[in-house]
Amino acid sequence: MDKLVIEGGRRLQGTVSISGAKNACLPILAATLLSDDKSVIKNIPALKDISTMLKILKNFGVRVQLDGDAVIIEPRGYKKYVAPYELVSTMRASICVLGPLLAKKRRAEVSFPGGCVIGPRPIDIHLKGLKALGAKIKVEKGYLIADGNSLKGTHIYLGGHSGSSVLATDNVMMASTLARGVTIIENAACEPEVVDLATFLVKMGAKIRGYGTPRIIVEGVKRLHGAEHSVIPDRIETGTYMLAAAITKGDVTLKNARLEHIIALVDKLTESGLDIKNIPNGIRVRYIKKLKPTHMTTLPYPGFATDMQAQFMSLMAVTDGISVITEKIYPERFIHVSELNRMGADILLEGPCAIIKGVNSLSGAPVMASDLRASAALVLAGLVARDRTDVHRIYHLDRGYENLEKKLLKLGAKVWREKEK
Ligand code: EPU
Repeated sequence: MDKLVIEGGRRLQGTVSISGAKNACLPILAATLLSDDKSVIKNIPALKDISTMLKILKNFGVRVQLDGDAVIIEPRGYKKYVAPYELVSTMRASICVLGPLLAKKRRAEVSFPGGCVIGPRPIDIHLKGLKALGAKIKVEKGYLIADGNSLKGTHIYLGGHSGSSVLATDNVMMASTLARGVTIIENAACEPEVVDLATFLVKMGAKIRGYGTPRIIVEGVKRLHGAEHSVIPDRIETGTYMLAAAITKGDVTLKNARLEHIIALVDKLTESGLDIKNIPNGIRVRYIKKLKPTHMTTLPYPGFATDMQAQFMSLMAVTDGISVITEKIYPERFIHVSELNRMGADILLEGPCAIIKGVNSLSGAPVMASDLRASAALVLAGLVARDRTDVHRIYHLDRGYENLEKKLLKLGAKVWREKEK
């Protein structure tokens, strides 16, 4: 197992290229199962989660060939429809093969995904939507056994206690592309990743309208063909490097980044005093004056993304004054708090709220986090901390940040990977 070592205190400067979005790429790869034809997906990030999804596809009998940052997928004749525990248990997003398998193979057996460290992650909205389409689903020996022989378009309200669901919207949208008749999904997730998936499905011949709004309308078609698609840039990686520029008082250009995809973060950072500008093919982020504290609540898109909450907290931890962060999507997603406090931060948890009293400086420490975005928050803290920070268990980072240490190194950080003893 590797760890990341950071010697903090360096100002980041220069240009970083933003990779393809993990969370757009995963459902798009699953969507290739809806056709018999070859599809080519470009701008895929080299990440552990992507290779897990490719393993799942191969396991169904799909041919997969990597070609640089593209992958060629040939599903013709794939016969299996079981996503096994060994693969699903390493990545919850595997659930997004359920919709395509039901639509195309009319059968699916997918290991029931468990909870995870960011809190309970139920799948009731997925099941409600697919059942409304006519799927029969039961749970046996830890597997969802699903029969999609009579999928039929319908009017579905796809909501839960926290609002819309990204992957449930993806699943129901994919399943309805090949269902008879018209499906209307109300309270659909509006995230850019859902829009990217819908864009790919339309290229495959699906008839979908309204994506990017809370009402998606899908008119079922008989078959879908293969398509070529380039995945959108990763908005969470973009936001993480924006915060890296802010926390190190730097000046960083984010190549390929799309400001409109992280408008809530940009709004908060601008309010705090950071200079953020759209430039041709990217965004420039400049620290120009002392930042101010701010309050923020995570919400479904276009609200502030829960996947940016931990990293934003690292910045507020060293911003003079009191900031309050409220987590409305995953109220238990605060495992980074105790680690940040070990580095000298002053953060108090009160239910789903974190009250942050900005400190003058953090001090490097050995830290460990057990999820992807919390690990990124610790890396940001390490960039500004005095002395050395060892971030353990960086396999979490490898699930979601392509070439993290190389990109940081290029921006002037002192960071390297070491084998754990
Ligand atoms: N929810 C339910 N029932 C469901 C599904 C979701 O109650 O059946 C609740 C969740 O517990 C949560 C809220 O609805 O409170 C939103 O969850 P959502 O379903 O939107 O999450 P997801 O689709 O499983 C994706 C991302 C996550 C990201 C969330 C929220 C992918 C592969 N994953 O998950 O990304 O946090 O949306 O934006 O797209 C990450 O990349 O680190 C990550 C965790």
